[in-house]
Order: sequence, then structure tokens, then C-alpha cells
Amino acid sequence: MAAIVGISGSLRRGSYNSALLRACVELAPRGVVITPASIREIPLYDGDVEAEVGIPEPVRALKEKIAEADGLLLVTPEYNNSLPGVLKNAIDWLSRPPSDIPRIFGNKPVGLIGASRSRFGTLLAQAAWLPVLRTLGTNTWFGERVLVGNGPSVFDDAGRIVDERTQAALMKFVSGFAEFVTGAANRGR
Ligand code: FNR
Repeated sequence: MAAIVGISGSLRRGSYNSALLRACVELAPRGVVITPASIREIPLYDGDVEAEVGIPEPVRALKEKIAEADGLLLVTPEYNNSLPGVLKNAIDWLSRPPSDIPRIFGNKPVGLIGASRSRFGTLLAQAAWLPVLRTLGTNTWFGERVLVGNGPSVFDDAGRIVDERTQAALMKFVSGFAEFVTGAANRGR
């Protein structure tokens, strides 16, 4: 059994990215479980808080979930042609203290997908994540690309995918990433 933690980078109730993550959960093949984790309780990073009280409890808890998981799936919005601050803030807290980075992120199989309103479907956001993932030493999977553009025409009001091409691309992504994570877990990463 391989376990993947999925994080949507949007806090919005009707978020396309959270809907995309829910679709991934449903598409997970037998033997792989994708569990969504929320970043809602992660505070804004503050070096004084870290120095005075240490790692906040919601950060500590999410770090442990990621450490225990075989893979991490990031579902990113795109803001101003780059990555969203809310998710970057969470990753920044999760990277503290730096001595813990290898335990949380080192060689961790990471999948990166995203949804946006524009037709480019988080192309630039996904590109902007690459130096971050490189710095953290993750084992990012590049086997399939999922760029979900035109959000309003891809999802219905309940957040279900109504676009067949998106559904097909997502299926390919989830099965490929699941295989990648399972293979890495079997090899002991
Ligand atoms: C956006 N949006 C957006 N979309 C895009 O494709 N490229 C972009 O550069 C931006 N920039 C941007 C900046 C800010 C501050 C906001 C709030 C939004 C639109 C974005 O794709 C849209 O709000 C999505 O719905 C965000 O994802 P969720 O919340 O639906 O998951």
C-alpha cells in the first residue's frame, strides 16, 4: 500500500484545484491511497515566532503527515503568472528547520498539477515551483503534465470534471504517478 498526501494550494470553497485533488483521490488505483491535507491552519511564516515558540502545531502535524507518506501531490493555482503565496507560505514553514528538510522532502516523490481560469492552465505556476522543489531535494515526477485551463468549462458547479480530455489526462497522470510512488516506496526510496 502506498500513501500519497495531496495538498491543494487554494482555500476557496469552490476551488478548481481542490476539485482536481478530489478527482485524483477517486482515480487512485488499487493499492494507492491519496489523502488530502489542508493548509488552512498554517500561519504566515514569522521568524520571530519560530525563534520564540518553535514550529506551530499545524505545521508540525503536516510535516509528520508528509514524512510518513510515500509521495506528495501538490495541486497549485496560478497567481500573477507564478505560484500562489498561500501554498508557498505553507511549504516555507514545512521547510523549517532546514535540518529537517531531508526527512520531510529529501528524495520524496512529488507530483505537480494545477488548474486555473486561463487557457494556459498553471503552466507558469508549475514552472515557478521547480526551483523550490529542486532546493528541497524532492524527486519530482515529470512523466505526465496536467495543465487544467478554462476552469469554468472543465468543472461543474459541484466541482466534478465535465471535460473528457481533462479526465483522460488526469487518469494518465494519477496512474503514472501512483506507479512512480509505489516503485520508489518498494525500493525504499
Ligand atoms: C488569479 N488567476 C490567474 N489565473 C491564471 O491562469 N493566471 C494568472 O496569472 C492568474 N492570476 C491570478 C491572481 C490572483 C491574485 C488571483 C486571485 C487569481 C485566476 C485563477 O486562475 C482563479 O482564481 C482560479 O480559480 C484559482 O484557483 P482555485 O481557487 O479555483 O483553486
